[in-house]
Amino acid sequence: MTDNNNFRPVSYSRTTLTELMIPSYANFGGKIHGGILLSLMDKVAYACASKHAGNYCVTVTVEGVHFLQPVEVGDLVSLKASVNYVGNTSLMVGIRVIAENVKTGKVKHTNTSYFTMVAKGDDDKPTQVPGLILETREDGRRFLEAIKRRELSRRYETELANSKTILQVEDALHLLQQERCKIAF
Ligand SMILES: CC(C)(COP(=O)(O)OP(=O)(O)OC[C@H]1O[C@@H](n2cnc3c(N)ncnc32)[C@H](O)[C@@H]1OP(=O)(O)O)[C@@H](O)C(=O)NCCC(=O)NCCS
Repeated sequence: MTDNNNFRPVSYSRTTLTELMIPSYANFGGKIHGGILLSLMDKVAYACASKHAGNYCVTVTVEGVHFLQPVEVGDLVSLKASVNYVGNTSLMVGIRVIAENVKTGKVKHTNTSYFTMVAKGDDDKPTQVPGLILETREDGRRFLEAIKRRELSRRYETELANSKTILQVEDALHLLQQERCKIAF
């Protein structure tokens, strides 16, 4: 049952996490590990989602993780998170990640990703989240975009599942022959 009185504005849970990229976060090439950024993204998504939900949340899916530019040791990384969409027990948190070189002041946009989280009640079962008050046209645009994103993601999952059931390796050897692989079976 939807509680029509239980709504929270986007601004209530908007969260920014800023962290200095220290040498132990770097890979052998001297750049920051993608996994470090993913962990920070999960942390800020959790903080934002659980603040909106008023409950603990779990991560269900992550979309749009494309690291567009490398992050350097010494950069200040800021992750800006806000609730873009709410369903019944799930919500989608959009995260914009930027890296700033503190000496030059140059700011790089490294990625924007979308975390779907589900709120859990004391019984560990999914529980309803408050509705979302859209305070700006931008909030409205993000909500609509999230609906589209969910729809496309579901369609993609269905198509992928269907193609797996019809994909016979013997019938598609010509496709493998065009790729950079050697068939050794
Ligand atoms: C996420 C989880 C609670 C879903 O449980 P479930 O029994 O499938 O629950 P439901 O079918 O009622 O779905 C709950 C919500 O999750 C959403 N959901 C479930 N699977 C989803 C998926 N693959 N993508 C997007 N949303 C999904 C449903 O749409 C539903 O949203 P709604 O209530 O807003 O409509 C359960 O799978 C879980 O606990 N997973 C482990 C999560 C975890 O531990 N993450 C940390 C990383 S290890």
